[in-house]
Amino acid sequence: MRIIVEDTEEQFHIASALEVTKQVIAKPNSVVTFAGGETTVGLYRELTHLYQEWRIDFSKMKAFTLDEYVGLSPDDPRSVSYRIRYQVLNHIGVQSDHIYMPDGMAEDLQKACTTYDRLLDEHPVDLEILGIGSNGHIGFNEPGTPFHLDTHVSNLTSRTAKDKAGFFGAVGSVPVQGITVGIRRIMRSKHILLLAKGKSKSEIIKQALMGPITTDVPASVLQLHPSLTIVLDKAAAELM
Ligand code: GLP
Repeated sequence: MRIIVEDTEEQFHIASALEVTKQVIAKPNSVVTFAGGETTVGLYRELTHLYQEWRIDFSKMKAFTLDEYVGLSPDDPRSVSYRIRYQVLNHIGVQSDHIYMPDGMAEDLQKACTTYDRLLDEHPVDLEILGIGSNGHIGFNEPGTPFHLDTHVSNLTSRTAKDKAGFFGAVGSVPVQGITVGIRRIMRSKHILLLAKGKSKSEIIKQALMGPITTDVPASVLQLHPSLTIVLDKAAAELM
């Protein structure tokens, strides 16, 4: 694994954006998976900046989102789909027919998972962008999730609901389920970029990268990936 530690939050966002840009310059038709959450907001801002300033060509890139809240439509500003489109994909010249998102509104969620898996089968992922939950989740693969799952519906833990309460206004307003790319699929991607910033992530980053590989800390499985790059700010790297 390659670990990059940046002094400031701004450098953290720039370093993360350069990792994505490097991939797209080397392979313009890369398949990239985008994660939601707060950690990636600055990365997406920087990608927009790099597109405008450096004229990086993202038009051949294919973009998948990593997960979605069950029950939120892509037009809901709280959905992962909405946020990723408006934070980045709509601003960097990605073609609309190159954007794929799991359907959190599907009546048949199982079918929605199978459909997404089929799309991912057709588009092997070159770069998987991941954040990490304070309980070690990646995507919505919560602690205890078997490592062999593909796209599936997951029940969000009370810890995740607590972490997301600020964003949704109250714990009770956080959706109770998510649809997520599973760990087996995440591990199949060619490269993984794991991002974490802030003191609140320092303990889980230590456990994920230096602790035992266990389903109790889903991100610990990433230790087994042959091409893992981790970008941290100083605060998240504090216990390493
Ligand atoms: C969310 C998402 C993840 C994200 C993680 C961290 O629930 N399912 O894809 O990476 O939690 O979120 P944040 O960056 O807001 O801490």
